[in-house]
Parts: sequence; C-alpha cells; structure tokens
Amino acid sequence: MQHIQLEAARIVHSVVHGGRNLTQTLSETLRRQSAYTPQERGALQDLSYGTLRYYARLNCILDNLLQRPLQDASLQCLLLVALYQLQYTKAGQHAIVDQAVRAAKNSFPSAAGLVNAILRNFLRRQPALLQTADEKEASRYAYPQWWIDALHAQYGEAAHAILESGNRHPPMTLRVNARRTSATEYLALLASQEIAARLVEPEALTLEHPLAVERLPEFVEGWVSVQDAGAQYAAKMLDVRNGMRVLDACAAPGGKAAHLLESGDIELVAVDKDVMRLERVRENLQRLQLTAQVVCGDAATPENWWDGKTFQRILADVPCSASGVVCRHPDIKWLRRAEDIESFAVQQRQILESLWPLLARDGKLLYATCSVFARENQQVIAAFLEQHDDAKRLELSAPGMVDGQLLPNKEHDGFFYALLHKQA
Ligand SMILES: C[S@@+](CC[C@H](N)C(=O)[O-])C[C@H]1O[C@@H](n2cnc3c(N)ncnc32)[C@H](O)[C@@H]1O
Repeated sequence: MQHIQLEAARIVHSVVHGGRNLTQTLSETLRRQSAYTPQERGALQDLSYGTLRYYARLNCILDNLLQRPLQDASLQCLLLVALYQLQYTKAGQHAIVDQAVRAAKNSFPSAAGLVNAILRNFLRRQPALLQTADEKEASRYAYPQWWIDALHAQYGEAAHAILESGNRHPPMTLRVNARRTSATEYLALLASQEIAARLVEPEALTLEHPLAVERLPEFVEGWVSVQDAGAQYAAKMLDVRNGMRVLDACAAPGGKAAHLLESGDIELVAVDKDVMRLERVRENLQRLQLTAQVVCGDAATPENWWDGKTFQRILADVPCSASGVVCRHPDIKWLRRAEDIESFAVQQRQILESLWPLLARDGKLLYATCSVFARENQQVIAAFLEQHDDAKRLELSAPGMVDGQLLPNKEHDGFFYALLHKQA
C-alpha cells in the first residue's frame, strides 16, 4: 500500500501547494491508475480526503515533531498522510509506519530514517501532541483561522457545531425520480437487495452506507440520482407548476434542474458558463430521460443568450464559497481565502441584478447558495431588496432553517435560500 500513500501525498500536495481541486485531481489520478483494484481506489480516496479534512491539525502535530521545518513539501505531504492513517484509521500502526518508510525509501531515500523516527515518535507522544493541537482553534477544528473567526462572529456558540459538521463523513442521499417511482417503492426495492436506507424527506432516501452508483437498482434507467437532502429543497421552494417557463441560471451539473423537470411539465432553460460542466447536465438529463434547452452563457450578461421571453420562475444557484459543503469537499477549506467571500458577494449581486429583468411580473426567483456566510446570503439579498421596490422576500420554511439558512448537520449540507416575488 505504500504506492497508495505516495499517490495520496501527491494529491494532497497538488491541492495545498498547487491550488488544485480535490475531486478533479483524484479522478484524474484514478483515470491514470486504471489498474487499481476497488480497494486501492477506496483507500486512495480515503487517504486524500481524510488528510485534507484534518490538514491543519495534522500539520500542527507534524510541526511539533520536527526539530526544524521540512524543506521538501512532497515529503511533508507523505508524513501527513501517514499521520492521518495513524490517528484516524483502523489500519495497523506498524504496517502504516513500515509502508511510509518504504515509500520514503523509493521517493526520498535520504529521509527514510527521518520518516521512521517521526512516525514512531508520534506513536510514543500521541496524547501530548493531540493536547497541543487542541490549544489553538485552527488545529483543534482543522480550519483556517479566518474561517473560524467569521463563523464565531456570525453564529457565536453555534459556530462549534458548524465547524464539527464540516469534518463529518457526509451521508449519501438519493433523490427519487417522481416520474419513475415513489420513495417508498424504491426503499422496498433497496431492501430487497439488502441495501439499508431510510426516508429523510418525501423524495429523499439516505443510504446507511455509501456505495457506487452502479450498484443502485435502476440507476442507469434514471429512477434515482445522488443529491443532498438540503439541495432537494430548492425544487419545492421554487413552486413550479405545469406549463411554466423556468430558467435555471447556474445549472451545472444539473441536479436541481433535473429535480425541477421531475417535479412538473415545465419548459426549462438551463444555463451555465462552464462548457465542460454543461456536458454533465446533458448526461444527467439523458439518463433521466428529461429535456431542457441547455445553453452556455453567463448569468451576469443575459443579453448574450436571452431570447427576450420572460420566465415565471428563476433559480439562481449562484457560485459561492461552498462553505456549507466542506464535508464533501474538504479541499475548499485550504483553497479559499478570506477575501474570496467579498468577491463572491459582488459576483452574486451582479448575477441577481442581471436576472431580475428576465423574471415575469408575479414570478418568483429562488436565490440559493451552499454557503454559511451571511456576506454571500442575507446581506446580498438585503442589499438587493433595498434597491428594488418591486421585489418582496417571501417566507420559506424547512426544518431547522433560520432566515433562509440551513446549517450543515449529519442529515444534510449547508444551504441558503431566499425566495423573491416580483410584485405584479
Ligand atoms: C452551485 S453550482 C450549481 C449547481 C447546480 N444548480 C446543481 O444543482 O447541480 C454553480 C454553477 O454556477 C456556474 N457559474 C458560475 N458563474 C456563472 C455565471 N456568471 N453564469 C452562469 N453560470 C455560472 C458554475 O459553472 C457552476 O456550475
């Protein structure tokens, strides 16, 4: 398994030192390593996600084990992967150390002794090292300090639960395609194949253990899709009715667009500015046998793609910090910078302004983010409402939702929703 440790270390390095996206880097690696067994693929995913989930904590432990800083960032990443394994996995400690030493002998021959000494030292001094890591918030929670400060300022004591939520293993939740089956029928189908699941929302089922989608009955036939339970609120909140013309202005990869199409006979225009991600919208719609007009365009400049016909409903699932979905994307914690929040807010306001004229009178626009920061959520909406007398924010309700904010918890990711009505 030392090759998996090394590969995981390369992925962690690409994210932390190269600014690369974890999902993309992992899938490129798996494509390159097509001979990996399913176990090796699973292990690589666990090691790279796990190390990034606890990056700041592991790094603090490593710093306290070193007499002087490491010069080689690749070696540092290998040590972090091994420390993750020792601290957070059930693999045998001696096997982990041996593999890391062998990995070092291959890639960093002069450092094999150092790797051995550091990891054995960790095992000897584990309780004291963990206690030291607990002394600073950034290494206790494994988040950047600016992120922790922003959550404390906004949520006070509740920040703790939000931070902890982001370090959980996310649940795998399915959306049942109402055009094909019902949630209770699909639950029975899963049970018949000994796949344990429970109903969490009328169309949402959470699996007891995540599994590859190919193992889900009738997945290829479009009976279900993977979608977080919190993301499944969007289609209901937008309140679409048969015959409506609907715009999904930031549609890729198409989860909410497909849900809207499953919910009613609507004419949907699905726009996104990322041509590659739009391909995924097409693939998803094809599998689900749904139809939409898929358009590559910038939601902030509709004059370049809009045909002039207004929409009765608009979904603006705008680009955001994704701070509500870090349990699925732990790399976000290390890729975002404090100043990104302000630039997202500017972009979000711009998109909202540009989409408003496309909404018909008496129409509704659902503004959505997967952020927990008020600067991208309530503050964008408040500033917009101040400038638009014809916009009224409607009440939305969902379990646990406060002022549109759904905080991440063990059932769902964090989302913000605001429904705006264009006064007739
Ligand atoms: C949060 S994701 C949308 C998720 C999608 N609604 C779903 O449920 O599957 C945001 C999307 O906005 C797109 N995007 C970012 N800036 C955009 C812009 N100015 N115009 C249109 N799309 C944009 C991104 O490419 C990304 O696909």
